[in-house]
Amino acid sequence: MANYLITGVAGFIGSHLAHALVAQGHSVRGIDNLATGLQTNLDELAGKTDFRLVDVRDAAATAAACEGIDVILHQAAIPSVPRSVLDPRTSHEANTNGTFNLLEGARAAGVSRVVYAASSSAYGDQPGFPRKETMAPQPISPYAVQKLTGELYMQSYWRVYGLETVCLRYFNIFGPRQDPNSPYSGVMARFIAQMLNGETPTILGDGEQGRDFTYVDNAVQANLLAATVPAERCAGRVFNVACGERHTLNQTYSYLRELLDFPHPANHGPTRSGDVRDSLADISEARHQLGYEPAVGFREGLTRTISWYRTQPTR
Ligand SMILES: NC(=O)c1ccc[n+]([C@@H]2O[C@H](COP(=O)([O-])OP(=O)(O)OC[C@H]3O[C@@H](n4cnc5c(N)ncnc54)[C@H](O)[C@@H]3O)[C@@H](O)[C@H]2O)c1
Repeated sequence: MANYLITGVAGFIGSHLAHALVAQGHSVRGIDNLATGLQTNLDELAGKTDFRLVDVRDAAATAAACEGIDVILHQAAIPSVPRSVLDPRTSHEANTNGTFNLLEGARAAGVSRVVYAASSSAYGDQPGFPRKETMAPQPISPYAVQKLTGELYMQSYWRVYGLETVCLRYFNIFGPRQDPNSPYSGVMARFIAQMLNGETPTILGDGEQGRDFTYVDNAVQANLLAATVPAERCAGRVFNVACGERHTLNQTYSYLRELLDFPHPANHGPTRSGDVRDSLADISEARHQLGYEPAVGFREGLTRTISWYRTQPTR
């Protein structure tokens, strides 16, 4: 059993990681400043984790949280393209400076490995699908630049200091506990919550933009593997984490309409600056090196997600 630190533990993906690690009997410390995360995401884990209200922009507090830790799963970030377009400084401070503080804390504390929540936004809008990790990054939004900077820092800390780091480029993760309530929320959470409330969602653009939507359990699996496979297979490397399937927003909306028996077609609005047009991953590297295999497909993921949102008193 290992001592884990999860940053952004009160968030969507962080809380799923905490549940999985606790279920496996690991010791879990979690830090979060509750900027976008919710304490209630950890309700079922009360007394089972060491939760600390820590902001990763605070170098000293972040370093203290790294003490006695074997493996860090670094999820803390302001995870929104449009928010980074509106207010790049705040995102930069959390996403770039926070990641740097974490690496410095990890290095000082002698942590063995850091697994980093990187983003498919690093690929930008260049031609060539599916996206392979060997493609040169072409980030568009400030968010994409910040997340890519984190990757480069991860790789540097492996090469220069021998701190084992693994970058997982998530492609549109969705599932229970994703917050639908902010204008910056992921499209899936927002659409499901709106449709359950009888409201008609708005698709930004023509809806033909594609996404490699990935159910959260698959991202959890990738993290657990990246935390444990031998360093020679993963340290200093970047892996796509996705399902390897493209679904357009229009297709996704029709699946949701069918599953929710929702009568209305979607509204359409203007495209958003900074968004990429298309997204589809090649996941063969994660398969070969980590042993990753997406276990929950798109439709099953949608069904599970809808079932969870139905149980929520306020949406
Ligand atoms: N959800 C996706 O589709 C997706 C895709 C690519 C990458 N990612 C990355 O995955 C990670 C988790 O994203 P998520 O979808 O769970 O989002 P989330 O907003 O639910 O989780 C992020 C967590 O980080 C916390 N946080 C933010 N700033 C912080 C700070 N300064 N100090 C401490 N904690 C802070 C938030 O309060 C929140 O709990 C992020 O790093 C994000 O960039 C997510």
